[in-house]
Amino acid sequence: MEVVLKRIAVATSKGGVGKTTLVTNLSAGLASVGKNVLMIDCDAQGNLQNQFNVKTERTLRDLLLDNEVDVVNVRQNLDLINSGKQNLADAEMALSGKTFREAVLKERLKDLSGYDYVFCDLSPTITLVNTMALYFCDYLLIPVSMSFYSITGAHQILNKAVEINQFSEITLMGIILNMYDKRTKMARMVEAAVRDKWGELVFDTVIRKNIAIEEAPSQHKTIFEHAPDSHGAKDFTKITDEFLLRI
Ligand SMILES: Nc1ncnc2c1ncn2[C@@H]1O[C@H](COP(=O)(O)OP(=O)(O)O)[C@@H](O)[C@H]1O
Ligand SMILES: [Mg+2]
Repeated sequence: MEVVLKRIAVATSKGGVGKTTLVTNLSAGLASVGKNVLMIDCDAQGNLQNQFNVKTERTLRDLLLDNEVDVVNVRQNLDLINSGKQNLADAEMALSGKTFREAVLKERLKDLSGYDYVFCDLSPTITLVNTMALYFCDYLLIPVSMSFYSITGAHQILNKAVEINQFSEITLMGIILNMYDKRTKMARMVEAAVRDKWGELVFDTVIRKNIAIEEAPSQHKTIFEHAPDSHGAKDFTKITDEFLLRI
């Protein structure tokens, strides 16, 4: 049976809400149930590549500029393309004069196959690389943490998606509430506002605020490896299950 590749941008115009955490642990969750997953670090900060602690010669920068890249296998069923950090920012400069530069990533990866899912981990600002990633992807997945700025960030990236949709097609597939702490009034308020606005698109599962999730990147581990019995691992198992039901 032919595998239909689904490309998902994990994005929002707000930093520190859990984009990289979501890409890491949802990808790991999907890989653990036998899906083939590719992660692309689209952020010059390189948090995703740091998470997995692998260095590669050729990165997203080289893919964009020279159509050459090292895809590194980081876990069973799980591959990664590093961002190249500062080199990625330099690539943006080099591409800034190119006609229809927004479509470069889509063009470069048009023959990509063998994966069930590709996740692009975006940075919070609207960069050329982010725009390219939104062009490349079919779906948008937005994490929202427990602040009202986080909701604003979701609106901003959705406005960008509307712009992209004049040329390409990207659909909002879901919103995931992260760093949830049901004891706080803020969490209840944000949840109510998000569910009221986006209804069915909001995942039933929320990711609780959990210290193990925060610790895992420093160990270069996924939440399932770092603390398999934690609330974080339980929540990401549920997120993985719900994701598979939705897409
Ligand atoms: N549910 C959570 N509980 C506790 N800490 C979290 C949770 N989700 C993310 N974090 C931590 O919050 C910080 C920001 O998350 P990150 O995924 O890097 O956000 P972004 O990619 O949106 O900038 C990181 O230190 C991360 O480990
Ligand atoms: Mg990040």
